[in-house]
Amino acid sequence: MQIIIGVSEIIKARKSIKQNLKIGFVPTMGALHQGHIALVNRSVKENDITIVSIFVNPKQFNDKADLINYPRNIENDLDLLEKAKCNIVFMPDNEDIYNNYQGYQTDLKGIDKIYEGEFRPGHFQGVVDVVYRLFDLVKPHKAYFGEKDFQQLAIIKLMTKNANLPIEVIACEIVREKSGLAMSSRNERLSDEQKTVSAKIYKTMLKHTKNLKPNQKTQEIIQKIKEEIDNTAFLKTEYIVFCEQESLKPVYTLAKNTDVKLCLAVWCEKIRLIDNISLHI
Ligand code: PAJ
Repeated sequence: MQIIIGVSEIIKARKSIKQNLKIGFVPTMGALHQGHIALVNRSVKENDITIVSIFVNPKQFNDKADLINYPRNIENDLDLLEKAKCNIVFMPDNEDIYNNYQGYQTDLKGIDKIYEGEFRPGHFQGVVDVVYRLFDLVKPHKAYFGEKDFQQLAIIKLMTKNANLPIEVIACEIVREKSGLAMSSRNERLSDEQKTVSAKIYKTMLKHTKNLKPNQKTQEIIQKIKEEIDNTAFLKTEYIVFCEQESLKPVYTLAKNTDVKLCLAVWCEKIRLIDNISLHI
C-alpha cells in the first residue's frame, strides 16, 4: 500500500496508472470503522486500483469544537486499509489541498440548505469544495459514499452531474453496530452508557414505522419518535423529517407505493448523531 501526502505526488501517481485500469475512490476523514471498510471492500471488488483519502476537511466543520475534537487514529486507519487491500492512501494537508483553490460553486437546487444544511450552515459547501478537488486529483471511475450521510450522497450525485464528471457515484448501505447504532467516527466519543442509549435512535425509528398506511400524516409519526427519543437520558432530537428519496422534498402525507426516507439528527449530550431508514409505503 502506497502512502501519498503531496498533491503533486498524487497527480504523478494518477498519471502513472495504466489507462485500461479501473480506479475506485473512497473519500474519508479517517478514524475508520467497519462502515468505511465496507466501502473500501466494495471498491476493491469492483475496481483494479482502490484509492482512499484521509483528510479532516476544516471547511465542512461549521462547529470549531467539533473539528478540534474530531477523532484521529491514523495508525489504526492504515492498518485497516492495508488489510482491506487498499492500493493507495492519500493523506494531504490543508494548505496543499486549498492552495490556489477557492472551491467549487454549483447550483444545488437548495438541497444543501435544508435538514443537515439548516443546522450546519456552510457544511455542504465545504463538502462539495473538497470532494470536487479530490475527484479532480484522483480522477476515479467510481466513487463510493455511504447512505448514512444520505443528504451528502444526494449532493455529491448532483454536483457530479452538474459538473459533467465521468464518475459513477455509488451508494453503499449503512453499516450498524449489533445494537442497531449506525457506525460513525463520532461514536468513539460516546461513553458505554451513551452508546447503549444511542442505540435507541434506530430502534425508535423502526418501532414507529412498522405499520405505515397510505394517507397517514407524517407529523404524527414524527411527534411519537421525537417524544420517545427526547424522553431518553442524554438524547435530544434536532430534526426529524420524512422526505422523497431523490428530490429530498419533505413528505407530509404518505402515498401508496412510494419510497420515502426517514432522516434525523439527535444530540447525545455533546455528540451529534445522524441516521436514516428507507421505507416503502
Ligand atoms: P466520513 O464521515 O469519514 O465518511 C466517509 C464515507 O463513509 C462517507 O461516504 C460516509 O457516508 C461513509 N460512512 C460513514 N459511516 C458509515 C456507515 N455506518 N455505514 C456506511 N457508510 C458509512 O463523509 C465524510 O467523511 C466527508 O464528508 C467526506 C465525504 C470525506 C468529505 O470530506
